[in-house]
Amino acid sequence: MKAALVKEFGPPSSLVVEEVEDPVPGPGEVVIDVAAASVNFPDLLVVDGSYQILPDRPFSPGKEASGTVLAVGERVTRIKTGDRVLALVEFGGYAEKLKVAEDLVIPLPGSVGFTEAAAFGLVYHTAWFGLVRRAGIKAGDTVLVTGAGGGVGSAGVQLAKALGATVIALARDQDRAELAKTQGADHVLTSGADTLRDDLMSLTGGRGVDITLEMLGGDILTQVIRATAWEGRVVIVGFASGGQPAIKPGHLLVKNISLIGLQASDYRDRTPNEMRAATQTMLEMVASGQLDPQIHRTYPLDEAAAALEHVAQGKVRGKIVIVTGHSN
Ligand SMILES: NC(=O)c1ccc[n+]([C@@H]2O[C@H](COP(=O)([O-])OP(=O)(O)OC[C@H]3O[C@@H](n4cnc5c(N)ncnc54)[C@H](OP(=O)(O)O)[C@@H]3O)[C@@H](O)[C@H]2O)c1
Repeated sequence: MKAALVKEFGPPSSLVVEEVEDPVPGPGEVVIDVAAASVNFPDLLVVDGSYQILPDRPFSPGKEASGTVLAVGERVTRIKTGDRVLALVEFGGYAEKLKVAEDLVIPLPGSVGFTEAAAFGLVYHTAWFGLVRRAGIKAGDTVLVTGAGGGVGSAGVQLAKALGATVIALARDQDRAELAKTQGADHVLTSGADTLRDDLMSLTGGRGVDITLEMLGGDILTQVIRATAWEGRVVIVGFASGGQPAIKPGHLLVKNISLIGLQASDYRDRTPNEMRAATQTMLEMVASGQLDPQIHRTYPLDEAAAALEHVAQGKVRGKIVIVTGHSN
């Protein structure tokens, strides 16, 4: 099979596409004929060697892939050959075939296509565990999503809206703000850190925000904490704009605010049953049109480096998906 490989850590251009041996499923494992695999922001960190979890090289990056089950190993009970599935993995998606534990495989509803499914996995999974599991979102909450033009951001806006929240989207410019509106945001802001607190307080009638899905870090995070409502929750998802600010505990104390960490992949690894249940629920929301994964562009597997470079440039609205040409 063909696979995009990390042989040496480096920029996206260091990925090489080569023929490697086909995987064979062991006990409890399945092999998927990959149709589509999405490119996620953390893949950049995997490829340059700065991500917290790195397998031995050479390996294929790619944290999710969809396709058709080609073969199943012994003791596989839930999944059978020919099933259309989505797999959430640590690495391995950028390849024509993926070997994965049965635990991490979710059957696809008939109406959800492979490209849509691949665009869906990690970003909605992150939004779900941030909003539902970590922050305990309920209908009527006011939810702020920062970095709203990106993959996790669009998923967060859609999911919070579908779960009955009033959604404020913070985006970098007017273009991205318009996109957030089409995703269901009730209010959009393009504020910088200097005005963000005042803008949020004014939008919420002085009450502040109940939950923030926070992607940016730096001064934005500091201002988000200051604009949080009594007993509000700020979920730390990433630091895409750069830095990790010094947090003033007094800002948390004064309004009983919780600052909450999120490592979404932990739920995949520690509680795969919960991960599958959440994914199944959201796939049904995709099938019924409540969620709509945004695909910015697809690239063939041979152009995996260009796909990753596209994400590195920070100009993506939604998801970049690598397609193999199989089963689509
Ligand atoms: N904690 C977890 O479990 C987990 C899981 C997945 C991802 N993440 C992290 O979440 C973040 C977003 O991931 P993604 O997959 O959504 O990435 P993405 O699709 O590439 O989007 C990147 C996001 O970062 C924003 N951004 C980048 N540079 C910026 C800058 N200089 N100033 C302001 N905004 C900037 C963009 O904002 P605009 O919308 O304004 O363009 C966009 O929303 C990343 O930091 C990623 O590592 C964490």
